[in-house]
Amino acid sequence: MLLNKDILLHILTLVPLEDALSFISVSRDYRQLGEEKSLWIHLLDAVKKTQPLPCPDDVDLLGKSVKELKRLAFHTVRREHRWSSETKNINYRDYTMIQLGPGYSLIHSIAGTPLLVVHSERDGTAVCYNIDTTRFLHSVHIGQAVFHISLVLTPAPGQKTHLIALLVTEELAVDYRGGHASLLVLAVHPDGTMDIPFRTELGTGFTFGQLFLNHSIVGLLRSLDLETLDILAFNLTSRACRIIHTDTLYDAQMGAYLDTNLYIVKDRSANSSNVYYCPSSLLPYQDFHDKLLHVADTLQWDDHGIRWWDGLSIGVDASLSGLGTWFEALGVMTAAPAGRGAALVTIHHINVDHESEARAINLRYWSYREKKADGDVTPSRRLTPVYTLNLWGMLATGGSLSRHRHLIAYSGLSVLLVDQYFHRRSVRLVRYRPCAASSSIHLLDLPSELSLNTISTIALDDHRGTITLLDQSGDLYSIFYA
Ligand SMILES: *[C@@H]1O[C@H](CO)[C@@H](O)[C@H](O)[C@H]1NC(C)=O
Ligand SMILES: *[C@@H]1O[C@H](CO)[C@@H](O)[C@H](O)[C@H]1NC(C)=O
Ligand SMILES: *[C@@H]1O[C@H](CO)[C@@H](O)[C@H](O)[C@H]1NC(C)=O
Repeated sequence: MLLNKDILLHILTLVPLEDALSFISVSRDYRQLGEEKSLWIHLLDAVKKTQPLPCPDDVDLLGKSVKELKRLAFHTVRREHRWSSETKNINYRDYTMIQLGPGYSLIHSIAGTPLLVVHSERDGTAVCYNIDTTRFLHSVHIGQAVFHISLVLTPAPGQKTHLIALLVTEELAVDYRGGHASLLVLAVHPDGTMDIPFRTELGTGFTFGQLFLNHSIVGLLRSLDLETLDILAFNLTSRACRIIHTDTLYDAQMGAYLDTNLYIVKDRSANSSNVYYCPSSLLPYQDFHDKLLHVADTLQWDDHGIRWWDGLSIGVDASLSGLGTWFEALGVMTAAPAGRGAALVTIHHINVDHESEARAINLRYWSYREKKADGDVTPSRRLTPVYTLNLWGMLATGGSLSRHRHLIAYSGLSVLLVDQYFHRRSVRLVRYRPCAASSSIHLLDLPSELSLNTISTIALDDHRGTITLLDQSGDLYSIFYA
């Protein structure tokens, strides 16, 4: 070797993972470097800051063998190659089809693990399933119908349990308003066992807004009169409840995002989006009298706003400019505060003149980071739209799809969409690269025996590079792209 080993090791930690891997594989001398555990830890730690590793976020890299670390590194490079390449179509590498039988729907895939949580309508249970071993691990009763699902919260430091909040009814119902709705938190442990650390009846007569969850609080936005919005928040340990009445108008399309403060995003008009923020001091557990929450922050679309067409290389072309276009807010997707991607993504349809079908989908990424004039990026309390993109088509309508037609991955970097363009459905993956302020849109190639017209629920894991689709007859497709 020409250079001292320590210097080489140091240099390798400064180059992209892919380059380090090719360097190590060129000669036998260098290959020995690949036996250095510290090298892999350094490399993977660096990657982890900007993209998810193919394992859970809380993984203990130090506890892994060199062989396992190498496997993680190669898997990461392979996944990035496929999911971030410039190619429009991404072919799958492999897939498994498992017949669960009718009455199942997907709740979530636990990012970076082979664990999948599904709901069985027949016996009202949540079932944890390992896709790799195709084994059912554990089930727990939650209720016959699931209406809303929060994003999975990865374990708090020093813990191993993933949490998911759900709005369910005990009996089979087409609408949560028809049954007795409950709010519950499902805990999924690393071995696939589950329990319900929190459950409360919500009564009837309310309209649902959004679920929110952090490691100490669970709650939902709701309206009793369809006019104003209430925040209902519970302390997960003490079960203390706060109801905060607000003077904010109820809106069917809302996003709620809780880190320590609670942020509520609503789209009220075509060109503005309001962010309301409820300070943590108002949430449990001190029980002072209910206070009115006032508008704390109002955001207008930026100058490069939603009516702005240029500079977007993808999707919508110049032929639309000048036409009377308008935007319809469809929803808000929140990512967990992993800090890599967007905090939140809003999704809109772009309609043209009086056409009944939307022409394009607009995705808008929001962040708490603010770019200062000197180029520094600083954390901020304001949610700022940092990136926007358009793609042709509209979200799939009608048919078998229940719950989500769009999902954001835990990382905040990937969005999965089931869309249609002239009645042809497809599954698309949008990958956002915050550092480069760019994105790519990919059509995901699907096994030919799978019909998108019968898919009812979807799941995405951008740690491992997989998507999961479940159809009405209970056939589950787990598709590996890396
Ligand atoms: C935004 O829309 C409102 C009406 O909804 C309009 O009064 C206002 O001028 C618009 N602002 C911009 C910057 O386009
Ligand atoms: C969750 O939110 C509550 C209320 O806003 C806050 O006090 C608490 O610190 C948050 N917990 C975590 C673990 O972030
Ligand atoms: C929840 O309750 C516990 C126990 O009473 C308390 O220590 C904790 O501060 C509370 N957390 C919040 C966010 O209110």
